[in-house]
Amino acid sequence: MQSLDGNTGARDPQTLGGGETDKHLIYEGLARVSADAVLVGSSTVRGGSVVFSVWHPELVRLRETLGHPRHPVQIVATRRGVPIDRELLYNVPSVRLILLTAPGGINVMREALAGRPWITPIVVDPSRTLVDAFEELRAMGVRRISAVGGRHLAAELIDAGLVQDLYLTTSPAAGGEPGTPMYSGPLDSQTVVRKRGTRHEAGVVFEHSVLRPT
Ligand SMILES: NC(=O)c1ccc[n+]([C@@H]2O[C@H](COP(=O)([O-])OP(=O)(O)OC[C@H]3O[C@@H](n4cnc5c(N)ncnc54)[C@H](OP(=O)(O)O)[C@@H]3O)[C@@H](O)[C@H]2O)c1
Repeated sequence: MQSLDGNTGARDPQTLGGGETDKHLIYEGLARVSADAVLVGSSTVRGGSVVFSVWHPELVRLRETLGHPRHPVQIVATRRGVPIDRELLYNVPSVRLILLTAPGGINVMREALAGRPWITPIVVDPSRTLVDAFEELRAMGVRRISAVGGRHLAAELIDAGLVQDLYLTTSPAAGGEPGTPMYSGPLDSQTVVRKRGTRHEAGVVFEHSVLRPT
C-alpha cells in the first residue's frame, strides 16, 4: 500500500487511503489466502496486537478448501530481537511462529523462547544470507510466503531475488512519512493485472506485477 506520492510509512497503513477493498479483499484476503506463511519486519509488528491471518468467513472457507491450516505461519524478521513477553503475536500457542533472527537477537530472546514451543528461531549468522534462511523455511514446509512489509525488509527480499509477485495498491491521496517508497530503485517488472476502485473508492489503483528474475 502506498500513497499517491509513493510513501509506505505510516503507523497505521490504512490511513494512507487504500480503502476497505484493499484491506479486506487484497491485504487480508487474496494475498494470503493460499500462503503457508506471512512474513513481516519487526518494526511493522512493534507495539501492535495483530495476528496476520484471513478473517472474512468466505476467505476462511476458501483457505480451508485449499487444504491450508486456519492461520498462516507467522514469520517475524528481527536481527536485534523482539519483546516476546509483551506482544500478542508471540503468545498465541495455536499460531506457529518463526523468528528470522541473528546471533545477537537469539541471545536477547533465549529465555522467553524456552517456554514457547510454538516459536521456532532461524538464526542467520553473518556467514548466511536470506536465501539460506528461505531454503531452511522450505525444508520446514513453508513454500509460499506473503511478505507484507515494511519497506526495509521488502527491499532486502527483492534484492535477494526472493520475490516473484508484487501486489501494490496506490491510494488517490498524497501522504505517509516522506521518503518511504516501497523500493528506491527501478524494478524490472511486468504488470499483469490493474484494477481501479469505484464509487467511494474511485482513484484507488491495485496492481499485480511479476518481477523478472535478476
Ligand atoms: N504501506 C504498507 O503497506 C506498509 C506495510 C508494512 C509496514 N508499513 C509501515 O512501514 C513502517 C515500518 O517499515 P520499516 O521499513 O521501517 O521496517 P520493517 O521493514 O517492517 O522492519 C525492519 C526491521 O526488520 C528486521 N529485519 C530487516 N531485515 C532483516 C533480516 N535480513 N534479518 C533479520 N531481521 C531483519 C530488523 O529488525 P530489528 O530492528 O528488530 O533487528 C529491521 O529493523 C511502519 O510505519 C509500518 O506501519 C507499511
